[in-house]
Amino acid sequence: MAAHDENVIWHAHPVARAEREARHGHKGAVLWFTGLSGSGKSTVAGALEQALHQLGASTYLLDGDNVRHGLCRDLGFSDSDRKENIRRVGEVAKLMVDAGLIVLTAFISPHRAERQMVRAMLGEDRFIEVYVDTPLAICERRDPKGLYKKARAGELKNFTGIDSVYEAPAQPEIHLDGEQLVTILTAQLLDLLRKHDIIS
Ligand code: PPS
Repeated sequence: MAAHDENVIWHAHPVARAEREARHGHKGAVLWFTGLSGSGKSTVAGALEQALHQLGASTYLLDGDNVRHGLCRDLGFSDSDRKENIRRVGEVAKLMVDAGLIVLTAFISPHRAERQMVRAMLGEDRFIEVYVDTPLAICERRDPKGLYKKARAGELKNFTGIDSVYEAPAQPEIHLDGEQLVTILTAQLLDLLRKHDIIS
């Protein structure tokens, strides 16, 4: 049975998103971190989640490496698998936003089209694209998991930035300098969430 089957009928929940948001004391939204491997997505998203948690917000962090251990364990790094990875994560993030959470996602999400797809899924006012802009040379120097080294040696194929494309966002809601201190970047993101009226 396909999802668009005429016998599968959407029904409304008895508790509305606004009521769940009122309970949390903030709006639901997704901060969609995108950037190269080693750019600092997970580190910054983790620091922001901690800061939000301390402010009493209800949050959840979805991280590429972790999601690929479960929900997306059947997917690799071909263009079509990355597309399906982002589609699934977008759908999960949408449910979490409906639950009133502030969701932080840390995925390379290298293709503009897929990020646009998630933006359309979530709606303009609930999707905040965060570009963690760290030059490839810096990411490669950091190489926290030794993956750039493997990719350069030809032991790892389709590695983003080496032999697989990364399309930088043209108009992200925020463009972070990935070489800045994490505390500075976290403060910028908290300001942005206030500006977008997600938290007060
Ligand atoms: S994607 O492109 O959005 O589907 O990728 P994502 O789910 O974020 O997974 C990226 C992490 O997987 C590891 N890894 C690779 N990354 C890029 N290309 C290839 N071929 C690859 N193989 C494994 C890598 O640890 C990425 O984690 P981060 O945190 O981005 O460094």
